[in-house]
Amino acid sequence: MSSQKKIAVVTGGSRGLGKNMALSLAKKGLDIVFTYNSQNEAAEEVVKQIEELGQKGIALKLDVSDSSSFDEFTKTLTSELQSQLNTDRFDFLVNNAGFIHYAEFEDLTEDQFTEMENVHLKGPFFLTQKLLPQINPFGGIVNVSSGLTRFATPGFAAYAALKGAMEVLTKYQAKELGKRNIRVNVVAPGAIETDIMGGAVRDNAEMNQYLASQTALGRVGLPEDIGGVVAFLCSDAAGWINAQRLEISGGSNL
Ligand SMILES: NC(=O)c1ccc[n+]([C@@H]2O[C@H](COP(=O)([O-])OP(=O)(O)OC[C@H]3O[C@@H](n4cnc5c(N)ncnc54)[C@H](OP(=O)(O)O)[C@@H]3O)[C@@H](O)[C@H]2O)c1
Repeated sequence: MSSQKKIAVVTGGSRGLGKNMALSLAKKGLDIVFTYNSQNEAAEEVVKQIEELGQKGIALKLDVSDSSSFDEFTKTLTSELQSQLNTDRFDFLVNNAGFIHYAEFEDLTEDQFTEMENVHLKGPFFLTQKLLPQINPFGGIVNVSSGLTRFATPGFAAYAALKGAMEVLTKYQAKELGKRNIRVNVVAPGAIETDIMGGAVRDNAEMNQYLASQTALGRVGLPEDIGGVVAFLCSDAAGWINAQRLEISGGSNL
């Protein structure tokens, strides 16, 4: 195993869970490249916070739903790694970026389905494929699913089905990438207070209380509940954890 400082690439690191993942990884001593889609200023603030923690922080723009941009993104990532970190490789990829169209099965449109499919399945599939040659042995991939693959909540049929596909993909990636000594795991957060769905889990008091009442620990999650677990999965201490779905939900819908 190399003793060189490790580098993580996190998609959707400008806000919410991805931001906490980026900061938690930085606290563990990793340099961080993270992507944002639209929130340039939020991304710059995260860079500042990573650098306050003593690590290098690099923010790159990427629309994960646009796989035609991945060649260009890979070139940009490589040149940033070379110029700022003196390498063209990295250790951990966290496929986190995403959004939700909330609609019951009978109402979701084909366009909404495709937009979610692109960001939650096609994007992470081909981005990981594209970046794979640059992931160091003894590194890993963390995919992000949802508690909603285990329990059914109306309004999330397509989203949950796509996250379920990522859980299956995780198993196949772990099987095929083991020969490269790359581990692949998937985390499945419960409802967390972020901006997703217009901040509904955080800002809609009725929804927040209902979700808390369905959770053994009696509250909904916060981004801080998630990032440290991802940082652990991206550490040598987790070196024998592979192909696992780890739910981080405080015991939701038991
Ligand atoms: N919050 C929850 O309750 C919850 C529960 C389970 C799973 N998850 C999953 O956790 C992940 C993060 O969710 P979150 O709650 O942290 O959401 P969030 O607070 O809304 O943040 C979303 C992040 O993803 C980025 N993003 C959105 N669409 C993108 C696109 N097309 N291309 C690239 N980046 C994009 C955003 O970038 P900009 O800031 O630039 O827009 C932002 O960094 C998602 O995969 C979500 O499905 C969330």
